[in-house]
Amino acid sequence: MAIEGPRALVAGNWKMNGGVAMLKEPRLLAAMLKDVKLKCDVMVCPPAIIARRVKSVLKGSRIRLGGQDCHWAASGAHTGDISAEMLREAGATAVIVGHSERRTNHGETDELVSKKATAAHRAGLKAIICLGETLDERKAGKTLEVLSRQIRGSIPSGSTADLTVIAYEPVWAIGTGLTPTTAEVAEAHAHIRKELEGVVDLEAAATRILYGGSVKGSNAAELMGTPNVNGALVGGASLKAADFLGIIKVYA
Ligand code: PGA
Repeated sequence: MAIEGPRALVAGNWKMNGGVAMLKEPRLLAAMLKDVKLKCDVMVCPPAIIARRVKSVLKGSRIRLGGQDCHWAASGAHTGDISAEMLREAGATAVIVGHSERRTNHGETDELVSKKATAAHRAGLKAIICLGETLDERKAGKTLEVLSRQIRGSIPSGSTADLTVIAYEPVWAIGTGLTPTTAEVAEAHAHIRKELEGVVDLEAAATRILYGGSVKGSNAAELMGTPNVNGALVGGASLKAADFLGIIKVYA
């Protein structure tokens, strides 16, 4: 596969899955990747409660640890929340913010997502900022308009390519087995790259734009080979080392 642009990232979002019993999967993945020459970075984002355990399993491997969501404050009276600084202390190098499940289930706005991304940057973490249209928005021909609005609202000004990763995740493709056509992915990613240039102070060409939504071993090569796609954010298929490896290997 011809790879262009910034070094790709394949990140696994475990969501609310994975207790101690799942530690065998990152252990297995680390072993499987040991002698593989990779042209991408690999990351797993487990639930925060198990982050330190995953980090110690990953010790000595090239697999990085990421968090799932953070509060915008560094500390304080925020029951049940976790700060970017806490994730950093647990060994994370990145955090996913603005995932559609947070936007939908927790009513998170672009403004809040932007504050969370700022918190990630403050803590020295990469903010993996998720964007994407719903099925109704796509059917109404509003996809690019929605992406523009989310880019303007969710990406803090002054963000740098080093600490900012964009994940384009059409809401209707998450966990459904449905994926956009490569033409649709190419259109969305080109639009995001163009908007990054114009709207935020990012080095657009150097910013990684991941595709997410029902990525699996059988469609990864096609999706990852699409122009302006610099890796994947993977949910369901990241839970088993063998499945995740099938995606990562696209970059071997
Ligand atoms: P999926 O989830 O791969 O299970 O569709 C992707 C995501 O929500 O990041």
